[in-house]
Amino acid sequence: MPFPEVRPRRLRGSKEIRRLVRETSLEPSDLVLPMFFSATLTEPRPIGTMPGVDQQPISHAKAAAKKAKELGLGGVILFGLPAKKDPEGRAGLDKDGPVPRAIAEMKAAAPELIVMADVCVDEYTDHGHCGVLRTRPDGTQVVDNDATIAILAEMSVLFASAGADVVAPSDMMDGRVRAIRTALDSSSYTDTLLLSYAVKYASSFYGPFREAADCAPKFGDRAGYQMDPANAREALREAAEDELEGADMLMVKPALPYLDIVRDVRKATNLPLAAYNVSGEYSMLHAAAAAGMIDLDRAVLEVLTSIRRAGADFILTYHAPHAAKLLGA
Ligand code: PBG
Repeated sequence: MPFPEVRPRRLRGSKEIRRLVRETSLEPSDLVLPMFFSATLTEPRPIGTMPGVDQQPISHAKAAAKKAKELGLGGVILFGLPAKKDPEGRAGLDKDGPVPRAIAEMKAAAPELIVMADVCVDEYTDHGHCGVLRTRPDGTQVVDNDATIAILAEMSVLFASAGADVVAPSDMMDGRVRAIRTALDSSSYTDTLLLSYAVKYASSFYGPFREAADCAPKFGDRAGYQMDPANAREALREAAEDELEGADMLMVKPALPYLDIVRDVRKATNLPLAAYNVSGEYSMLHAAAAAGMIDLDRAVLEVLTSIRRAGADFILTYHAPHAAKLLGA
């Protein structure tokens, strides 16, 4: 039946009816906050390109855990800034490194808080790539897939032994989910969850993160391992492969320019699905708000709701504390 009998505006007539018929929910528990822990800092160091985000000293981990719990966040995900970097990212395998130490502190302060650890060597390599390098006969350097996954497996066991609930490989090497699952299981970490950054694009939106985690590649780019932004079918292949290899949860990254991919992957899998609202997406909103172009509070909730609407069960986002407050935490 058409207008005038049908009037969709009837369902928008008051706050209460809008709330009753709302299709998508957004709760603090849907949000996971990324955090950067430094081995050397004694005070927080603001990240210039990400207003409100700091690199943090380990001594602040306990308070940070309590705050995340108070805000009702779904969890936190930790990145590390080591004291020293080398070509193989050895500092990532140091049991006294910033991430294992921060995990232990956070789990001691708030045992119920879900603590995830990003697994990748780029934070620890001096060249900034997500793997160890191999020199080809013609002299060019490439990221060596199989040598890298052995390191990722060892790093995952280390983070699990420090108490991480979830390990989250973000490197895009082939076969790393299986290698990590096998390593965890043979060290009896059968309960440690594996969240795979299954579908990660070679994106310009990681710009501010590379300052935050001090991991910009010193030569070349990441297009040899991260996905081509033009590809959608390939995302389903990556997701299916990681599910088969034993991932407990999958992730699409970035979020906003890839909401179609979030939707596609949502339809293709029954695993819980995350999306990463990355640093560039965060900084863009802050820059636009600072320039008086948008209302930050409304934009934050709109963006996060759109990612949930596309099909993400939970969202990794630097907006988490701000959004949790807006949502009444
Ligand atoms: C790689 C990693 C990156 C991000 C998370 N893990 C950067 C990259 O691939 O260059 C980006 C997150 C963000 O931009 O917020 N370990």
